[in-house]
Amino acid sequence: MEIIQKLENYIRENNVEAEHMLRTGFWLKEIHPEADEAFYIAAVCHDIERVFPLRDGEVKPPKTGNDEFDEEYLDWHGKRSAEFAEKLLRENGFNDEVAIARIKTLIAEHSLGGTAERDLLRDADSISLLENNALKFIQEGKDKKELKEKFDSEFARLSSEKARKLTRLFYENAIKKLND
Ligand SMILES: [Fe+2]
Repeated sequence: MEIIQKLENYIRENNVEAEHMLRTGFWLKEIHPEADEAFYIAAVCHDIERVFPLRDGEVKPPKTGNDEFDEEYLDWHGKRSAEFAEKLLRENGFNDEVAIARIKTLIAEHSLGGTAERDLLRDADSISLLENNALKFIQEGKDKKELKEKFDSEFARLSSEKARKLTRLFYENAIKKLND
């Protein structure tokens, strides 16, 4: 439990998409109360690489924001987040090797979907995006047509009725704001 507190504090202090990451953990537990500590850690750390500036020689692949075209970016982002999550865990004295391997795999694959656990994590990520990031995207003046497609696809790919139920209001609210 202590490690979770440390990671959550770290995310809050560094405040790069803190709300998005912490709420992904929250929603994971809502849709999957059985989630163990490793699964929860993967959820709150799934985008952690964004805290860390590019290192010498590191190149971020192009990102369109549409997952269909962002295979290379999503692979890079997932693996980089897995690497930094491991670093943080070890720096905080966490060395359960089985759990670390599981956390890294979950994070590296968090955008893929296609297995029960990948679907759960991607659903939690989508719920949190529509809850916490959608209005920010609109305020930032991003292209409305592209945002509509993004919000539609985030909602459409939810893998369960439970997730859709929890997300519907956030989704409808985001679409309404988009049309204002
Ligand atoms: Fe995310």
